[in-house]
Amino acid sequence: MLKGKKILLGITGSIAVYKTAFLVRDLIREGAEVKIIMTKDATNFVTPLTFSTLSKNKVHTELFNEGLWENHVLLARWADIFLVAPATFNSIAKMASGICDNLFLTVYFSLQCPTIVAPAMDDDMWKQPAIVKNIQTLKNRGVIFLPVGKGELASGLSGEGRMCEPEMIVNFLNEFFLSTKDFIASKVVISAGPTQEAIDPVRYISNHSSGKMGIAIAEEFYKRGASVTLILGPTNEPVTQGITTLNVTSAEEMYNSVMNFSTEADVLCMAAAVADYTPEQVAIQKIKKSGDSLQLQLKKTRDILHALGVKKASHQTLIGFALETENEADNARKKLSEKNADMIVMNSLRDTGSGFGFDTNKIVIFEKNGKEASFPLQSKKEAAKDIVDFIHRYRHE
Ligand code: CTP
Repeated sequence: MLKGKKILLGITGSIAVYKTAFLVRDLIREGAEVKIIMTKDATNFVTPLTFSTLSKNKVHTELFNEGLWENHVLLARWADIFLVAPATFNSIAKMASGICDNLFLTVYFSLQCPTIVAPAMDDDMWKQPAIVKNIQTLKNRGVIFLPVGKGELASGLSGEGRMCEPEMIVNFLNEFFLSTKDFIASKVVISAGPTQEAIDPVRYISNHSSGKMGIAIAEEFYKRGASVTLILGPTNEPVTQGITTLNVTSAEEMYNSVMNFSTEADVLCMAAAVADYTPEQVAIQKIKKSGDSLQLQLKKTRDILHALGVKKASHQTLIGFALETENEADNARKKLSEKNADMIVMNSLRDTGSGFGFDTNKIVIFEKNGKEASFPLQSKKEAAKDIVDFIHRYRHE
């Protein structure tokens, strides 16, 4: 599958370098061409001789070698993909801040191809605000990050920060070369799932949204190279690692979180089932049973989609969702114009297999320019692909 693919591999100084030897063996077995750059620290863990033997190519370590200059631009231009494995805390920091003091970094800053990074570090370092910020900076520039593993670490401690297993990296590369990367360097913000509006410390108002549709859209964008921020209401649905996920509970928290990330976004996709009303007062203590009925006074929540529509910038595409039970098309068109959205994805609870909790969905997309498209009942993953295809076409016509 990787036959003929030109993989430029950057190896930086971590104990996980030993795993990269297996990775190189596997990449060669898959038919890839592999050229390798090692930092000085990386060569302390495994020798360049091991890697040149495995890759059947010279290993590049120095910008200047025996009075000769290493042509970093040619190396960078040669590659279909730049893979950094393992990527240390220090190298990630330098990539993020523009420090260019070795051959590896000089090549990185001359690249014309996508970069995929497999970090490796100790659990405590992995959680440092500095690395979290540097990774986000690089993601915003289109760098793709592979997840780290959990388990035994070189320090003897156990936690997060292990470099992704070679087999997983090879699988990722296979998928990467198969799929279209039409959202590289795009920033996408997605809301998904229900919200919970507290009544008292033990009760809340919510709805049946599972978040599956919004999560499928987030994953589709991520696969296609976007930097994705998912603002997710309470759900047990798993989310692919690599997607920045912010868990929120109430409509108010969702509003604040989406607004926080909205200015930078190119695409805003509001798939959440946000509560329209929330209790005016949240009782501090559990409300005790008394009398035959109970009245709750509710107040309107802020409409996130509407607020985004009001301040929409010219580079932004705004997508809303509409789950309807009657007058579906009219209601969807009304939402499209009232909320200044570019697109409304509508589904009807009257269609069997559509809506809350199902793995399938039957959608109709209404565009601002009057176009409409209906899709058959399909998996939410397939529907997500159609939605993202639509958004791509809309942004480029
Ligand atoms: N929405 C939102 N914030 C809210 C309510 C809704 O961002 N407070 C968004 C939803 O995420 C969805 C769209 O608005 O993308 C439509 O939501 P929906 O509940 O179908 O419509 P409403 O505008 O709330 O109108 P109604 O409930 O009367 O159908």
